[in-house]
Amino acid sequence: MIVVFLGPPGSGKGTQAKKLSQELNLSHISTGDLLREAVKKQTPLGLKAKEYMDRGELVPDSLMIALIEEVMPKEGGFILDGFPRTVPQALVLEDMLNRHGRNLDKVFLFDLSEEVVVERLSGRLTCSQCGAVYHKKYNPPKQEGICDLCGGKLIQREDDKEEVIRKRYRVYAEQTKPLIEFYQERNKLTRLDAEQDIQEVNRKLLEVLKNGG
Ligand code: AP5
Repeated sequence: MIVVFLGPPGSGKGTQAKKLSQELNLSHISTGDLLREAVKKQTPLGLKAKEYMDRGELVPDSLMIALIEEVMPKEGGFILDGFPRTVPQALVLEDMLNRHGRNLDKVFLFDLSEEVVVERLSGRLTCSQCGAVYHKKYNPPKQEGICDLCGGKLIQREDDKEEVIRKRYRVYAEQTKPLIEFYQERNKLTRLDAEQDIQEVNRKLLEVLKNGG
């Protein structure tokens, strides 16, 4: 099974991808996590990507396409979280899958308003060691400031400041929203009400993937 998660920043794509990948034994490919790892290790990709990410802009398609060519599994199911984000990226993905004789099963659109995005991202806490994601109010760690899973220190992401969050939302509206029509035309798109709580969104995802509706 090959699934794409599409939606504005902070709409819960990463949270749901982590859960669903365990529940359905799928690989989880998050381009945001891969880029943050590259920035941390100061690889050539990380050095180029950092300035775009800090400004809340998209990293150029050429870099993202090279990255996805490198990491996309040749077999087994996977969830793409944060890729594609532009029409050229979607066309390359379609071509790559075709070349490997594979097919995209579903694209989930996580629907969320800008105000909820800002509230969620300003309360988000991320583990500096393992990348686990929490929320001060909606998904707090057991012990303040400490990751439940690995004991790492919880931090606020550089791009989770209000002005950068609003910029990322604008970039989403301008450059990523055209993918809604792209996937609707291909009959792949399912809309999810991402304002519901974490368990309810997960329940809906499983229902659609298991029963188709
Ligand atoms: P990326 O890391 O992909 O950021 P994003 O898409 O902006 O998504 P987020 O990680 O911010 O949010 P999310 O939807 O995963 O929400 P989460 O589950 O964390 O990308 C970062 C940057 O990398 C981009 O800006 C760009 O520069 C670059 N990049 C990445 N991919 C690229 C590409 N393909 N092309 C070009 N550039 C690219 O949840 C958010 C918060 O809400 C958490 O605190 C969580 O606990 C909480 N929460 C989750 N679900 C719920 C719920 N149902 N109810 C209440 N709270 C909830």
